[in-house]
Amino acid sequence: MLLTHATLATMTAGYGLIRDAAVALDGDRIAWTGPMADLPAEHSGQTTLNVQGRLITPGLIDCHTHAVHAGHRAAEFEMRLQGASYEEIARSGGGILSTVTATRAASEAELLAFALTRIDQLMASGVTTVEVKSGYGLTVEDELKMLRAARRIPDRKPINVLTTHLAAHAIPPEYKGKPKAYISEVAIPSLRTGQAEGLIDAVDAFCETIAFSTEDLAPLFAEARALGLPVKLHAEQLSDQGGAAFAARHGALSADHLEYLSPEGIAAMAATGTVAVILPGAFYTLRETQLPPIAALRAAGVPMAVATDLNPGSSPLASLTLAMNMACTLFRLTPEEALLGTTAHAARALGLKDRGRIAPSLRADLCIWDADHPAELSYRIGATPLHARIFGGLLVA
Ligand code: NIG
Ligand code: FE
Repeated sequence: MLLTHATLATMTAGYGLIRDAAVALDGDRIAWTGPMADLPAEHSGQTTLNVQGRLITPGLIDCHTHAVHAGHRAAEFEMRLQGASYEEIARSGGGILSTVTATRAASEAELLAFALTRIDQLMASGVTTVEVKSGYGLTVEDELKMLRAARRIPDRKPINVLTTHLAAHAIPPEYKGKPKAYISEVAIPSLRTGQAEGLIDAVDAFCETIAFSTEDLAPLFAEARALGLPVKLHAEQLSDQGGAAFAARHGALSADHLEYLSPEGIAAMAATGTVAVILPGAFYTLRETQLPPIAALRAAGVPMAVATDLNPGSSPLASLTLAMNMACTLFRLTPEEALLGTTAHAARALGLKDRGRIAPSLRADLCIWDADHPAELSYRIGATPLHARIFGGLLVA
């Protein structure tokens, strides 16, 4: 296929904007891109789609979601509006653990069906690659069930899925007060089995007073590295636990949330090239007031990604373009940073080198937007100006 008359945001250097551009595809790869005037003759005979000046970007990448889970937590939303905090709800057995109860009771097929609705919503905002975490099973079998359900999503929808093992998300009631035993008896065994079954792309954990300390997590991250799996971490969301620096010491792909990130944490991330994944949906939902240190991350040259954190508790947000809007308005990212955060930098947060930009040999995952400038994607609130998606070289709408 040959796409012509496009406004192209290649995301190769900032927006990398090219007007009157063409993109030639070869199977599921990009073969050529540049101004139409420079189109090599060999591509001019291909099946042509004139996009009539519309904006084309790389397919968006949502690099942090909990899209596989059962149930919802609207009752907690009401409790928080009456003054209860996220931590209080978690400590009284609600929060993540209430989703664990619902997820344990669901079958793999049910979890897949629940996830597909959410995946449809993400795709409608331009997502072509999504990361999905486990973390609501908290037994070996239930964690594997979540990962298997996530891995089946691409059989049903035109989207790429990367799966992250997040057994260290919360301490289940049967291990209350025994985080180290939970790590050695559930988290590590589920990691080993999941890896043996080819179900895991990365390992994540929740480092927080209501979850795990860096000391609890050290054996898990050591095991991940022994298995050759990259790590990432929910870090500094509610308090500074030194999580980002701990993650960076383990060569983490990303540290995520980061509202309470310290200058030492920023320096550690900058030194290892760890991506800062910012999650404005959780900030918004929890009515957090501590802003992540965006200016300092920017000054230190830490790449920033933006994701939905789609989950039933802290971020029931299923639009990645709305996450971009929130990142700009709440956190003062520029629209260019927000789009880098859902393309090139999101790819990096997942360790992917074959997508997130428009350039020869990369995957032909693209979005065609009813927009003429990329800033429009962040500027609109809850609008989905998506015209069509191209997934693996095929027009999928
Ligand atoms: O990314 N912070 C921990 N985990 C999720 C919340 C999960 C939940 O509340 O169900 C997050 O915000
Ligand atoms: Fe999360």
